[in-house]
Amino acid sequence: MRVVVLTGAGISAESGVPTFRDVGGLWEGYRVEDVATPEAFARDPDTVLRFYDERRHAVTFAEPNPAHLALARLEASLGDDLLLVTQNIDDLHERAGSRRVLHLHGDLGSALCEVCGTRSPIAEDLAGRPACPACGRPTLRPDVVWFGELPYGLDEVDVALAECDRFVAIGTSGAVHPAAGFVLTATGFGAATMELNLVESDVSLLFDEVRHGLASMLVPAWVDEVLAAA
Ligand code: APR
Repeated sequence: MRVVVLTGAGISAESGVPTFRDVGGLWEGYRVEDVATPEAFARDPDTVLRFYDERRHAVTFAEPNPAHLALARLEASLGDDLLLVTQNIDDLHERAGSRRVLHLHGDLGSALCEVCGTRSPIAEDLAGRPACPACGRPTLRPDVVWFGELPYGLDEVDVALAECDRFVAIGTSGAVHPAAGFVLTATGFGAATMELNLVESDVSLLFDEVRHGLASMLVPAWVDEVLAAA
C-alpha cells in the first residue's frame, strides 16, 4: 500500500509552533507581503532576515508531538511506500525520526546563496549577513519558498500522488496552492483520501473522509489503523 501524507502548520501547533491563519496565527501579527515575498526581501531585507531568524530560534525550543512521532512510526513500517510531504519549514518531522520528508516550502535551517545558488546549513543569524561558505559573499537568504516562488519537489510529488493508494492531509487549511489541490490529483488517480484537521478546511468537501480533532490524537489513531490492516 502506497501512502502520501501532506502536513501543514496544524501538525506542529501542539508543539508550540504558531500556525499561519488561525486566531493568534503568524499572519495576524505580520503581513505576508512584508515578510514572505521576494519583493519584501528586495525592499527590506533586514526585516525579512530577522523574521526568519526568530522563527528558527523558536523552533529550536519546540519538541515533536505524538502526531510527528506516529508518522515516523508509519515510515518505519511502510518504508519507501510512504512519502511525507510537508509545507512546514520546521524540522519536527526529522527530529521525530522521519527520514523521507519532502519540504515543499523549504527549510528554516537552510540558507540559499542568492548569487551562487549554494544551499548551506545556517550556523548563525542571517540578519548578521554571514558569508556564503561556497562563494564568500554576504548574500544568503532563507532557503524557504516565498509567495510567488515555485515550491520544491513538485515532480516527485506528482509521481507519488499518481501512484498512491491513500492520500491523507493533516493540519493544513487548504488555502495555499499547489498543495491545496493535491487531493484532486490523488482522487483523479483513484486514491482514497482523508483529511485530519481541528476544524473544516477550505477543501474538506473534496475528501472521501474527514476527521476533526487534535492532530496529537487523530494521527496516532489513524496510524494504528493503517498498521493493523497492513
Ligand atoms: N490539530 C489539527 N489541526 C490543527 C491544529 C491541531 N492541533 N491546530 C490547528 N490546526 C489546523 C487549522 O484548523 C488549520 O486548518 O491547521 C491548519 C493551519 O492552517 P494554516 O495556518 O493556513 O497553515 P498551512 O495550511 O500549513 O499553511 C500553508 O501557507 O503561509 C503559508 O507557507 C505558509 O506553508 C504555509 C502555507
